Amino acid sequence: MNQGQASSGILYQRFDRYHRILHAVMMASFLGLAFTGLPLLFRDTDWAAVVARLEGGFSAAGVLHRIFAVLLITCFTLHVMRLLHRLYVQKDLGVLWGPESMVPQPRDVVEMIRHLRWFLRLGPRPVFDHFTYWEKFDYWAVFWGMGIIGGSGLMLWFPSFFSWLLPGSLFNIALLIHREEALLAVGFIFTIHFFNSHLRPEKFPMDTVIFTGRVTHEELREERPAEFERLVREGRLAELEVALQPAWVKTAGRTGGTVAVALGLTFVVLIVYALLF
Ligand code: HEM
Repeated sequence: MNQGQASSGILYQRFDRYHRILHAVMMASFLGLAFTGLPLLFRDTDWAAVVARLEGGFSAAGVLHRIFAVLLITCFTLHVMRLLHRLYVQKDLGVLWGPESMVPQPRDVVEMIRHLRWFLRLGPRPVFDHFTYWEKFDYWAVFWGMGIIGGSGLMLWFPSFFSWLLPGSLFNIALLIHREEALLAVGFIFTIHFFNSHLRPEKFPMDTVIFTGRVTHEELREERPAEFERLVREGRLAELEVALQPAWVKTAGRTGGTVAVALGLTFVVLIVYALLF
């Protein structure tokens, strides 16, 4: 909604409690993994020694890293299990295709081209539906990244188990992949994902939708007009209406989000500093 525009006070559900809790735990565990993994990677810098000291030393950082890894892997597993449940138990094919699916579809390419034209003032703003092409991009970057960083991390954690299955040379490669993917994930989440979600002009300084799960009537109509019209056409809009949550939910979301953005950007600065100097 444009700043200063009056709101009707009507709210619709965008993310349910399951999604919100999973996202919060994933966010905390990813920050924890970055906080404990980066000092190990840059252990010869001054700042890494300071951060590791805060964590109780380098070996304590390694223990904490494994605890956060269990949390992140649990989140990922629960997410995949829910998708499988929707698909196989609820027979909801909308997971695989259609406006509420995360699977990239031809309309995403069309919307991306239209968006680029809109940026260049060569055409109108595209009419987005439930998920935009950049939200799908962020989602898949994290989804595949999880497989790569989680798989290589488990190899580092349980080398004797994996050495039954894999040749020894792969362990050096796993370490290299874990390091590079860690830098890519931290760089991507703390710049592109933060910009797309919170720092772009329409949302600055923070979009609280992932914490509250709710969007206003005006936000839905202006930002996702195709979804708004589809829900009206299908007579489903009223079903999504939800009550306002207690104020603390939004305050907690804003506080948690601000801490995450501030910590994330600090990590990016520290990485650039470590790589340059
Ligand atoms: C999700 C599953 C993950 C698992 C199972 C995992 C596991 C591990 C293990 C066992 C180590 C060796 C720790 C030690 O030396 O004591 C490690 C190192 C590291 N991890 Fe992870 N990790 C995971 C995710 C992540 C993520 C998301 C990041 C980045 C945000 C990350 C960044 C790092 C870094 C930078 C190192 C240091 C590598 C080095 O020694 O140079 N890890 N990880």
